[in-house]
Amino acid sequence: MKIFLRIIGVVAILIVSVIIFILITWDNKIDAPYPDVKSSSDSVVIARGKYLVFGPAHCATCHVPMDKIMEVENGLQMPLSGGWEIDIPPGVFRATNLTPDLKTGIGKLTDGEIARTLRYSVGSDGRYIAPFMPFQDLTDEDLVAIISYLRSQEPVEHEMKKSEISFLGKALITFGILKPEVPKNTPLKSIERDSTVQYGGYLANYVAECMGCHTERDLKTTEFIGPPFAGGFEFEPNEQSEGYGFVSPNLTPDPETGVIYSWDEDRFINRFHSGSLVKGSPMPWGAFSRINDLELKAIYKYLRSLKPVSRKIEKTVYLEKEKLPE
Ligand code: HEC
Ligand code: HEC
Repeated sequence: MKIFLRIIGVVAILIVSVIIFILITWDNKIDAPYPDVKSSSDSVVIARGKYLVFGPAHCATCHVPMDKIMEVENGLQMPLSGGWEIDIPPGVFRATNLTPDLKTGIGKLTDGEIARTLRYSVGSDGRYIAPFMPFQDLTDEDLVAIISYLRSQEPVEHEMKKSEISFLGKALITFGILKPEVPKNTPLKSIERDSTVQYGGYLANYVAECMGCHTERDLKTTEFIGPPFAGGFEFEPNEQSEGYGFVSPNLTPDPETGVIYSWDEDRFINRFHSGSLVKGSPMPWGAFSRINDLELKAIYKYLRSLKPVSRKIEKTVYLEKEKLPE
């Protein structure tokens, strides 16, 4: 009996120690360099930034108040005063105010701090930033363009509540299971914008998050668990999806199971210009309807160049199957 009690005692102490360890170490400052980039007031640079923010990089899909999201999807260009939030097992994550307001926005942040968040997933406070932003491999040129545009906006005072990491999230961060996304390659200074596989790959992986959504992921750890671009990422119904649930389709050129296998380039481009056909789809079709034709051609070419993966996604929308586009 005594031994039994002693074992229970030791186990209890161990558990309490681990919990204390997690609570005091999870928010240790993460070490990452500040990219050497400088925002600019050149109108060509700002215009490229604005195009990325409201188009392929779709920052505006998350960083605006959610009661304005339909208007923004339809083309309203408003200051990015923050708004979207997502509640998943590791925590509640909230998209911050990105206008130059000094108190509630990015006004007091340096270019280096904003660039470090996007490239190394480290917040301005030195903490882990959750992987909703796949921009680690943005070229210096595009990073500068985006930051320059953010700085050119009118400041809006709008306090966003801070993200709240759950105990599970803190444990996963402490034990390195959740770790900041970092560049996969040495980020380029710039990239030639042409309808090439290379540029399409850059857009699909590092700018427009096609890979991040069209690859199966474990929502507890946010890790990728399926073949890239082969679909299968599940989006459960939430307030913004109006009750519908979604599964991303397979974008690899597999004859049997690839959704765009039979599409020619024109059909692909027209599909993007048409915007959302399914109510509540999580894909930012509005922002993507503004991707220019050269970039859509590049993305199409890149997707066609992928290795076909046979993976049948039975339905991409649940509840009302008849609303599926053919
Ligand atoms: C899918 C939604 C989504 C998109 C798209 C998105 N963000 Fe975010 N952003 C978030 C969320 C959620 C957070 C809070 C993350 C956290 O607290 O871990 C955030 C935080 C940030 C932060 C603040 C980091 C800090 O110091 O706390 C910056 C800066 C930022 N985003 C910039 C951008 C830019 C620039 C773009 C477009 C190039 C963009 N975001 C696109 C969801 C998004
Ligand atoms: C936020 C997640 C998300 C992102 C980012 C995203 N998709 Fe999707 N995509 C989905 C979901 C979910 C569906 C199924 C629902 C629908 O058709 O809207 C879908 C559907 C599609 C379809 C099929 C449309 C149809 O009419 O059958 C294509 C093609 C597609 N995506 C391509 C892309 C490309 C290319 C990118 C990057 C430029 C991209 N997606 C980025 C989630 C996403």
